[in-house]
Amino acid sequence: MQHISKLPNVGTTIFSIMSALANQHNALNLSQGFPNFSSDKKLMDLVNKAMHSGYNQYAPMPGNTELRERIANKYDLLYSTSYHPETEITVTAGATQAIFTIISAFVKQEDEVIIFKPAYDCYQPAIELQGAKTISIPLDAPNYGVDWNIVKEKTNPKTKMIIINTPQNPGGSIFSEADMLKLQELTKDTNIIVLSDEVYEHIIFDGEKHQSACAADIDIIMPKKKAPEHKIPFTLINLYPN
Ligand SMILES: Cc1ncc(COP(=O)(O)O)c(C=O)c1O
Repeated sequence: MQHISKLPNVGTTIFSIMSALANQHNALNLSQGFPNFSSDKKLMDLVNKAMHSGYNQYAPMPGNTELRERIANKYDLLYSTSYHPETEITVTAGATQAIFTIISAFVKQEDEVIIFKPAYDCYQPAIELQGAKTISIPLDAPNYGVDWNIVKEKTNPKTKMIIINTPQNPGGSIFSEADMLKLQELTKDTNIIVLSDEVYEHIIFDGEKHQSACAADIDIIMPKKKAPEHKIPFTLINLYPN
């Protein structure tokens, strides 16, 4: 019996193709983030200590409580947020799992999800597995910035989610404060979910400032704290590096 994949058009990822080619040609591999240094000894010692201290049980489903508290404190420190560690922070096994889980939990058949391309390659298959439609908006060289007029044109009542990624992989572009304000303007008074992939939050150069979707200076785009719970006009889900 032949089993047909639900994603017959998804082939080998570009990472696998380029890494195999780099190995074959003994070339410098710029396609995938392999660190060329070993893990920090302090980290290895701490992991070792934790293992010897009996930390070998299942973590609670949303993640270890102390870790969630630390994450809440970190984002409070960086962006003056006030996320509740028990109800607003969930730890996942990496960003790819978080992205897949969030998309599966919210996106339904016939929904539309806007992504900016070129994009990290797990977004589109996750959307299409839900029977939803990917609306791809190109990021054009050399700056790989977003044309918000196109985003506005493509947004309609079927738009369930907009996935943003800053700093962006693979283009390397970052969102400015103006981009965040445009996003705010476009999504206010809608039920659109913004999924913000910020895994490269701390890899930012030239004195630029990372514009986190949860930053206090764009708090205005997160009215969920001010609105009654049943009437959330805008929902924001942030992905942080782990
Ligand atoms: C933009 C972006 N998001 C998410 C991920 C995946 O992160 P993780 O390895 O934690 O699943 C990557 C990895 O390349 C990425 O480039």
